[in-house]
Amino acid sequence: RTVYVNGQYVPENEATVSIFDRGFLMADGVYEVTSVLGGKLIDFEGHAVRLARSLSELDMFNPITKEDLLEVHRELVRINEIDEGMIYLQITRGSDGDRDFVFPDPETTKPTIVMFTQNKPGLADSPAAKRGAKVISIEDIRWGRRDIKTVQLLYPSMGKMMAKKVGCDDAWMVQDGMVTEGTSNNAYIVKGNKIITRQLGTEILHGITRKAVLRMAAEAQMEVEERSFTIEEAQNADEAFTTSASAFVMPVIEIDGVSLGEGVPGKVALRLREIYIDEMR
Ligand code: PDD
Repeated sequence: RTVYVNGQYVPENEATVSIFDRGFLMADGVYEVTSVLGGKLIDFEGHAVRLARSLSELDMFNPITKEDLLEVHRELVRINEIDEGMIYLQITRGSDGDRDFVFPDPETTKPTIVMFTQNKPGLADSPAAKRGAKVISIEDIRWGRRDIKTVQLLYPSMGKMMAKKVGCDDAWMVQDGMVTEGTSNNAYIVKGNKIITRQLGTEILHGITRKAVLRMAAEAQMEVEERSFTIEEAQNADEAFTTSASAFVMPVIEIDGVSLGEGVPGKVALRLREIYIDEMR
């Protein structure tokens, strides 16, 4: 694989970053994941806008223009011959060669930018989406600025492991009795013809896929309500699903051991998945 590090395209085993990088020492960095279908980037614009916002919320300067960023994305897809897959992008605050809680001087310390591709054949025609996901609920103990897409992913990663340990696929996180989101996706339930998903705020990531799917749902005359819901309400819903750049629309068939509806992927989720993939590819 050819990867991109600070302006250079290099073989992955030749890419290096300082051990003092604040991304490594302090999780002081942000990231984006953009999917590729048929060699085409999905919603690059949305990811670029969110990246700029994440950087500005952390007082980090944006080291790359949107045009250059698009160019690097396209070049990596081309060089690595990605038909279906993902592009991972990470920008960290870099380092001035020491460990310090105080941010290094932005005049002299440049952010580190790293990008690489992940080949994922079968992303659109996913067996996991045909089967549907089983989720468990866990307490949401992440920090309070989940609207910033930082690389602090230890707790979501542990949540995913808790789910795997009991034979499930993912975890939905709950704060004050209300579902926030999945470990790496936004969460939805469906009641009748109504799609319910948590309102935007600092408690969840403002998903790029969420925005696209809610627009498509409205265009398909489906009703959308943005409000929080409990695990109990979700267990009694007709369907549930999640959205993310990496899995698009993923049906959820079980929550904390309770099957939803017929225990198979729901009609609304499957329809939205199809609409999304058709429009994006
Ligand atoms: N995760 N919520 C969280 C906590 C996420 O990490 C993600 C994305 C989403 C969905 O956002 P989007 O639709 O913009 O991908 C919601 C990415 C895919 C990841 O960490 O791999």
